[in-house]
Amino acid sequence: MAKSVPKSKPDYGFDGSPFGVTIVCLAGAVCFGGGVALITFPGPGLKIAAFVLMLCGLLAVLVCGSYLYYVKLGKLHRRDTMISMIDWKGTEKVLDIGTGRGLLMIGAAKKLTLGKSIGIDIWNSEDMHGNTYQNTMGNAELEGVLEKVEVKNEDVRSMSFPNETFDVILSNLCIHNIPTKDGRQKACRGIARVLKPNGTAIITDKSHTKEYGEIFAMEGLTVEYFRPSFDGSLRGIVKAVKKASL
Ligand SMILES: C[S@@+](CC[C@H](N)C(=O)[O-])C[C@H]1O[C@@H](n2cnc3c(N)ncnc32)[C@H](O)[C@@H]1O
Repeated sequence: MAKSVPKSKPDYGFDGSPFGVTIVCLAGAVCFGGGVALITFPGPGLKIAAFVLMLCGLLAVLVCGSYLYYVKLGKLHRRDTMISMIDWKGTEKVLDIGTGRGLLMIGAAKKLTLGKSIGIDIWNSEDMHGNTYQNTMGNAELEGVLEKVEVKNEDVRSMSFPNETFDVILSNLCIHNIPTKDGRQKACRGIARVLKPNGTAIITDKSHTKEYGEIFAMEGLTVEYFRPSFDGSLRGIVKAVKKASL
């Protein structure tokens, strides 16, 4: 009987649908091939159509290639960039919002000596392939940080944590999945609420980062925006620091 081989390396998952990306990539390849075939036919109209097809095909393949790069390598660089924006002491209480397979929760846990890194998620399988609590904890075990992490089923719009719980809040590619402005506003207000005075939130997303920054500023946080080097996926970073209490 075939035995399942235990995983030896963490797998931080495929954001979105591998099926969707495969379809776009195949469609791009077909377009490009069609363009190459068409260019051999005479007539300016057909030549223009061939160039358009080749261009669209090439663009689709490039977008897919860049996305695959993000999924395999770029997200690890992104995690390192976000983690390096915190001046770690090792005793922090950390929250990773929309942890998925635990990319940031585990990255933060590696910086901790006494602290705790908590990940929350609603396990939406359209946002992350194979999105399960078990896969996340499996990664934590493989990375040797099991005792420093905790994963909870929580929606960022209605977090149950008391006010001023976390020193550091991280989130990557999560909040844009909330379809309404009102929902995203609830999420950002919740982040401001559960952040401790002097605490820092680093939120990376492919859209809406300006909107998040505006909500944090309205909640009294000091906000900075960053645009890090290209890592295969569109992104902006907003850093928000809560003022010390008087
Ligand atoms: C694209 S994945 C990114 C996962 C992880 N942050 C990473 O960078 O690998 C987005 C994650 O956000 C979670 N998510 C979406 N909406 C959420 C919400 N309202 N509250 C908490 N998590 C949410 C999804 O279930 C998914 O795991």
